[in-house]
Amino acid sequence: PEEVERIKKRATEVRGQVAAERELQNPPTNMRPLQPGFIDLPQQQLEGYKRKQDRSELGRVLRVAQRLRDTVDRVVVLGIGGSYLASKAIFDALCHTYHNEMPAKLRMGKPRIYFEGNNVDNDALQDLFELLENTCVEPDLVEERWGVVVISKSGDTLETAAAYRAVRGEAAKFYGPKSELLRKVIAPITGAKNSKLRELCKADGIPDDDILTIPDEIGGRFSVFTGVGLLPAAVMGLDVRAMLLGAATMTRRFIEEPFDRNPVLQFAAVNHLMTERGKTTRVLSAWSKKLEAVGWWYDQLLSESLGKTGRGATPITTVGTRDLHSRGQQHQDGTRDKLINNLVVRQVKHPAVMIGMADRNEDDLNQFSRKGMPDLLDAAFRGANEAYADVARPTADIVLPMISEHTIGQLLQMLMLATVVEGRLAGTNPYGQPGVEAYKANMLRALKATPNLPKGEVRDAAKGV
Ligand code: PA5
Repeated sequence: PEEVERIKKRATEVRGQVAAERELQNPPTNMRPLQPGFIDLPQQQLEGYKRKQDRSELGRVLRVAQRLRDTVDRVVVLGIGGSYLASKAIFDALCHTYHNEMPAKLRMGKPRIYFEGNNVDNDALQDLFELLENTCVEPDLVEERWGVVVISKSGDTLETAAAYRAVRGEAAKFYGPKSELLRKVIAPITGAKNSKLRELCKADGIPDDDILTIPDEIGGRFSVFTGVGLLPAAVMGLDVRAMLLGAATMTRRFIEEPFDRNPVLQFAAVNHLMTERGKTTRVLSAWSKKLEAVGWWYDQLLSESLGKTGRGATPITTVGTRDLHSRGQQHQDGTRDKLINNLVVRQVKHPAVMIGMADRNEDDLNQFSRKGMPDLLDAAFRGANEAYADVARPTADIVLPMISEHTIGQLLQMLMLATVVEGRLAGTNPYGQPGVEAYKANMLRALKATPNLPKGEVRDAAKGV
């Protein structure tokens, strides 16, 4: 109890510090980089739209999204890290689980969505090109047009840049190099300054106004409420204003509410305390498949923000009940280094699939005939947490009333704010990612040192190279 009281007080003090950092124009060197722009961004996006409508940043996002939806049937989102995971998390959480498999009529004008540039995987990229060239689809399927959202704040991340070069070439082949359509189907999102991607797009004749900007004061993994998350979400036909409203509400709660009603402070405090006590493996246990990618997004947020100077908890995402049959053993019985953060959804979206009565009862399930899938999940959740509690394995719960644009907006903002608070509690600067920068530089050097193939020769699997 003393520790809890101490951490409540400390977390509340840190909240004041994080709030004040928003006003710091010239941070001292030991606080750099300082990128608190994400804190007020959701509210600013909404206010800007109210005042300036189409001329606001959100207005531009909506306009570009509408243009893509009007022009193409498939959209490839290119980006990596903070320029990829937010849109993947939003897509998985809020779109139909089989969105891409659905016929156009049922998708109601929403394009199919694919993610690339988030790796360097030759064969996956070739498979995507086959799909885009319509060579591996049902023969009677009408040729589908496709477009690209290319996201890179720095504008020179090698994975995204190389994928974009290849995709840009494919697009030129698909539409014809001089086609007017080319400019319409490419939507870039990049930093304001020194971005090679911006220069390339400008040289390709994409108007400046159609290139969305990630502001300097917002770091990659904190950029979900810039065009980075909003444009793909709007292309998917999601209610981005509801998402922003959820996020803005969370910021207000963070700033105004006392600890006992403040989910940001509570989450940061519990996680900080447990990490300090040696629970250095942090499991995000999502009790819905649809939230697994939110877990991947949080893995990145935590790793890149707090995994510094030899410290920081190691994040892992699991899905209940799937991973109870794999990792569950270790969580129950393995090394005592884990805190399990359950991410729970109270209300499912669709009517319950019932177990029901069957003519044959060899499976012995008729006893549960009047129970449904949500009852099963709830029983598993309670069973697992009771088992953890029995052997003193700590857990904490984040409860969403349902999965919607509004709750996902709240959740993402809550986790970003909590990560910054936790960083300040631990004395770690949550912004910047020097470790990632080191690998990027090394990769570039290694690539420069790799011998070139003879001119015109393609590295070919068939030749056994
Ligand atoms: O959080 C971050 O800053 C990183 O994960 C970046 O988002 C990632 O490295 C991609 O960088 P960029 O958007 O510059 O291509």
